Amino acid sequence: HLLIYFGYTYCPDVCPTALSDMALAMDALGDDAAKVRPIFITVDPSRDTPERLKPYVANFHPRLVGLTGDEAAVAAAAKAYRVYYAKSNTEAAPGEYLMDHTSIIYLMGPDGRYLTHFTHGVTAETMAKRIREKLN
Ligand code: NI
Repeated sequence: HLLIYFGYTYCPDVCPTALSDMALAMDALGDDAAKVRPIFITVDPSRDTPERLKPYVANFHPRLVGLTGDEAAVAAAAKAYRVYYAKSNTEAAPGEYLMDHTSIIYLMGPDGRYLTHFTHGVTAETMAKRIREKLN
């Protein structure tokens, strides 16, 4: 099973919250966590290099994997999950852009089939409970 979230490492608030919730849900799964691979896919590949992603995801959970690719690959992945993202007109600081993006956590089966999703703000306990229901 895959637990998939799209975001970017420079995200000030939304992504850290979602990734923390994913990490807490993984911990709440106990032994069942071994059946789930949490994945973070960047929507900001120009800044989120593999070198930047690796320590970022490790900071949330040891099993969280960060994925990036070229612009076309990221766009294709986001489209497949119906994830919207775009460079924001608001700048965090001069030259430091923000990204607008969908904040949804997807649970996919071992065969790549969609199982369920979690909207932003779901508690880790609820997420872990619903993941466990889908594991067997
Ligand atoms: Ni974000």
